[in-house]
Amino acid sequence: MAKLLSLYIVILALLVFPIKISAEIASYNVLKYGAKPNGKEDSTQAFLDAWNAACASESSTLIYVPKGRYLLGSLAFRGDGCKSPEITIRIDGTLIAPEDYRILGQSASWISFEKVNGVSVVGGALDAKGSPLWACKATGNNCPSGATTMSFSNSKNIKVSRLVSLNSQMFHIVINGCQDVLVQGVRVIAAGDSPNTDGIHVQLSKNVVIMNSSIKTGDDCISIGPGTENLWIEGVKCGPGHGISIGSLAKDAEEQGVQNVTVKRTIFADTQNGFRIKSWARPSNGFVQGVRFIGAIMHNVQNPILIDQHYCPHNLNCPTQVSGVQISDVLYQGIRGTSATPVAIKFDCSSKNPCKGIRMEDVNLTYLNQAAQSSCSNANGNVAGQVQPNNCLA
Ligand SMILES: *[C@@H]1O[C@H](CO)[C@@H](O)[C@H](O)[C@H]1NC(C)=O
Ligand SMILES: *[C@@H]1O[C@H](CO)[C@@H](O)[C@H](O)[C@H]1NC(C)=O
Ligand SMILES: *[C@@H]1O[C@H](CO)[C@@H](O)[C@H](O)[C@H]1NC(C)=O
Repeated sequence: MAKLLSLYIVILALLVFPIKISAEIASYNVLKYGAKPNGKEDSTQAFLDAWNAACASESSTLIYVPKGRYLLGSLAFRGDGCKSPEITIRIDGTLIAPEDYRILGQSASWISFEKVNGVSVVGGALDAKGSPLWACKATGNNCPSGATTMSFSNSKNIKVSRLVSLNSQMFHIVINGCQDVLVQGVRVIAAGDSPNTDGIHVQLSKNVVIMNSSIKTGDDCISIGPGTENLWIEGVKCGPGHGISIGSLAKDAEEQGVQNVTVKRTIFADTQNGFRIKSWARPSNGFVQGVRFIGAIMHNVQNPILIDQHYCPHNLNCPTQVSGVQISDVLYQGIRGTSATPVAIKFDCSSKNPCKGIRMEDVNLTYLNQAAQSSCSNANGNVAGQVQPNNCLA
């Protein structure tokens, strides 16, 4: 009898529990707040109203964006005062920016999240329509600098998955001042000659993971700024683009360091750089410490492995200076493929703070089916296994 009773309880629990789970998530469809899926009428206020309603709920919430095209101006989703512990924004449609780039051009971001905790963005395409602004910049006229497509600032517990970002005006996705962020299965698409369209930029952030993403753009696929700690990047395809870059650092004299960065299983195709660490030739207390570049295939990459501590564009404000940034403990392991230039490995470090603890293991980069070259200045470290081109580390 007791057995039968417990079986009965289990069956009852199975029947009731799923219903209870779905009932606990309050759902907010943007159409109910007046959003128009026609790509013509502005839906900015409707999205904000849906956000505010979700925010005010005490339960986990879902903001749903059905199929269709939604015209959105600059909008900020703010977390202060939010009661909902978990907000998922599920997007089955495409969000589009105004045709006239000047409308967003002066804003820092098109879609921004500020001080949010527990927000997930799932799916969706963001079409920022950046190309007329790039054309303006190419002619050198008075153009606005442009908006980042999606930014997260001072936020925690963030997930972005299966998002497509098209033709951003400036950067595509920015993670700034955040903790515990997962970006996965994201696709970034912009022209290979589009200016400053970095794919994903991380700075002043801790515990960020970027997984299984594909980035085709005109600037860095992923750029890593000061104050980045515990960053894990895995399974990224990059190209066209400027590669995966730590830097530019030493922009400011007072700067937080970059530490504990792992980049695994990367494929680079026709990029300007593979793995780059770059700092201005200027005094700074910034540093780079503990970086692992593990497992990469390079196809026709101009600078597959590069440390450049003499960055000084147009020779302005730094032509005779040296970089204050100390780079140490950097591993390059299991990297193979082709360089598009004779010098596949270049370590151009600071004479004031030579690079130390550079380790190379099983690296094989060729140029036109021959051995490529390497070049080192102020670089210390050692090699293990086969390393081609030949080791020039002191
Ligand atoms: C990333 O891709 C790998 C290999 O395709 C897969 O095993 C893994 O589950 C994926 N991870 C995430 C978080 O999507
Ligand atoms: C480095 O970061 C990884 C996550 O990317 C983390 O698992 C690990 O504990 C960190 N190591 C240290 C020494 O903080
Ligand atoms: C490096 O790669 C080339 C081209 O794939 C190959 O022919 C060569 O044997 C490799 N060298 C080493 C040391 O593995």
